[in-house]
Amino acid sequence: MYKCYLTCPRGLEKLAKDEINHLSNDIQINKGGINFHTDKEGLYNINLRSRIGMHLLVELFEFNAKNESIIYSEVKKFNWDEHIDTNQTFIIKTRGNSETFQNKNFLTLKIKDAIVDQIKKNKLSRPSIDKNNPDIIISVYVSDNNFKVYIDSSGISLHKRGYRNKIHKAALNESLAAGLVMLSNWNRSDPFYDTMCGSGTIAIEAALMAYNIAPGLLRKHFGFQKWQDYDQILFNKLKDEQKSLINLDHKVKIFGYDSEFSNIVMALYSTKLLDLENYISFKKQRMEKFEPKYTKATLIINPPYGDRIGEQDTINALYKMIGDIFKNKCIDFNCFVFTANLDAVKHIGLRTNQKIVLKNGNLDSRLLNYPIQKGIYDKKN
Ligand SMILES: C[S@@+](CC[C@H](N)C(=O)[O-])C[C@H]1O[C@@H](n2cnc3c(N)ncnc32)[C@H](O)[C@@H]1O
Repeated sequence: MYKCYLTCPRGLEKLAKDEINHLSNDIQINKGGINFHTDKEGLYNINLRSRIGMHLLVELFEFNAKNESIIYSEVKKFNWDEHIDTNQTFIIKTRGNSETFQNKNFLTLKIKDAIVDQIKKNKLSRPSIDKNNPDIIISVYVSDNNFKVYIDSSGISLHKRGYRNKIHKAALNESLAAGLVMLSNWNRSDPFYDTMCGSGTIAIEAALMAYNIAPGLLRKHFGFQKWQDYDQILFNKLKDEQKSLINLDHKVKIFGYDSEFSNIVMALYSTKLLDLENYISFKKQRMEKFEPKYTKATLIINPPYGDRIGEQDTINALYKMIGDIFKNKCIDFNCFVFTANLDAVKHIGLRTNQKIVLKNGNLDSRLLNYPIQKGIYDKKN
């Protein structure tokens, strides 16, 4: 059994838990992630299938230390050659907060020395550090004097599904975008719109869900594939299982529009990589011109936040337009706005049903729900 910690965007911990409930029965929610135990099959499956998770970390050991020499001796005690081969490269990522140990670079260096010295003791050569493309990633979380040492089974974050080449400057993290779709409770069959789609992340994540495509299927690599106990036959079997569950016959309409053609080009590139060109409709269109063919749809947008000085009036007008389009064109839609501009949302001018607090990186953000029903706004106009 592996003792695991799965990291995820802040605010989505409960969704991360619900997603893997059937793969572990002792899941505990923490800030920014969940703790649980699972076996090798569970570990591979979660890496392949979690839409919300970002790094699936396996705890190696834990210790308390009040100075650097104790850190060195505690880390050196561990049997590192079971995890890092002398011809492999590795990297150490140190995170967390500690009054005693404020210099993370120094900490990282101490831990690296202890690992290398321990491996060198029994071998003639030693593994080296590679900051760009390491075989093994060791993550250390410091909380005051407590240290938890993990090995990262995902490698690069799971939100990097592998369907992008260029990234829109304000693109959402794919795990967060998947979380927004889940929080909307979209039933995966009604029409789905993102009328400010940028590079298409929300619509693409919606499509992956609707067609039951595991988010990890396009990835070229996971961290555990470089581990000494890697079971390629098991992993291939699990991948085949996921491929067999894809259902492209499912009937659903998914649309993404944006005012900038260059963004639509990025979205189309992703659909091509995913072989979903015929399953999501992306086109250049301003939201002001939105004339939906369908009612009873779900719409999620992530409008610009307006981070430039002097831009607030333009942004307020944009949010007012969003409210007007919702009210006039989106009858019977379940509409959502995801934004970090909490002043601008007041200009939408409609009552929200629900405000969900989330983080977009470091930005305090909200997912706001506007269920639009015929008649309720008629009196105002
Ligand atoms: C924050 S970005 C969306 C990023 C997107 N969620 C992604 O992951 O790539 C906001 C997008 O709204 C688009 N936009 C701004 N005004 C618009 C309008 N009036 N109609 C349609 N799109 C608009 C911008 O071009 C930009 O791509």
